[in-house]
Amino acid sequence: MLLRAHAKINVTLAVGGVRPDGYHDLRSIVAPVSLCDDVALEDAAEIVDETDVDFGSENLAVKAARILRDRAGVQSGVRIRVEKRIPCGAGLGGGSADAAAVLVGLNSLWRLGWGVERLVQVAAEIGSDVPSLVHGGIVMMEGRGERVRPWTDDALYGRTLVLLKPDVHASTPAVYREFRPEDGGGGLNDLQPAACRLYPEIEQALARLEAAGAREVRMTGSGSTVFGFVDGSGEGRRVADALSGFGWTALAVVCGKDGGFQDDQDNTTIRRGQVR
Ligand code: C5P
Repeated sequence: MLLRAHAKINVTLAVGGVRPDGYHDLRSIVAPVSLCDDVALEDAAEIVDETDVDFGSENLAVKAARILRDRAGVQSGVRIRVEKRIPCGAGLGGGSADAAAVLVGLNSLWRLGWGVERLVQVAAEIGSDVPSLVHGGIVMMEGRGERVRPWTDDALYGRTLVLLKPDVHASTPAVYREFRPEDGGGGLNDLQPAACRLYPEIEQALARLEAAGAREVRMTGSGSTVFGFVDGSGEGRRVADALSGFGWTALAVVCGKDGGFQDDQDNTTIRRGQVR
């Protein structure tokens, strides 16, 4: 089974107070983009990781399989191989997207027949971005990330954006620790001022992206990627090409309805469950 694990952007991200569990309350519009990893799942007796990438921490795809096996009370295994294209430490939800694809894929492969709500609950145990990506499509995410609902925004769907990732890996816990309540409310992403204080390259990336012609420029997640809107794929390529000289990652992508359970309803993007 081959699945597409779509990266996400936080179109908006409002950060509230610290909760009793130590996490922050969030409110964010999350949208999948066309950039994706490929996740291959194959029946196996054990959970086997065949991914050829050093994540520097636990592979969330494998963690997802372990947690789902435990919560579903099954003995099944799976061989997992992730082809990475989504950069790590980028605020693009790369690891979370792989985990979400594994949950949705194993729901079929292991014939669990779970609905999206039950899968979202397990997703929340893995990380804050996993529920949104299991749900798929453009969503409003709230709480610590575990509450997701569809967000109809036709102004976003199909728009081209340019992503620019400076050569810095942003640490999500470090950015949340640096966050001050007074950072909030002023912009589209409340974590942006804290991330810029810790990583000045992000401030530079925002300025370069804007100078190259992208509009409504902002950071996604806890960084380090910034993005802005452009008019269509031709302008997207032109802006991304103009930025590629800095040695950073610059990509034109399309904002989509992809990913998670959403693929079931949108045959134009369906890859899930396809056997190659
Ligand atoms: O859930 P996730 O693994 O993405 O969170 C990474 C870190 O980000 C957490 O350990 C925490 O420091 C911070 N975080 C937070 N509040 C959230 C989500 C993440 O403080 N709602």
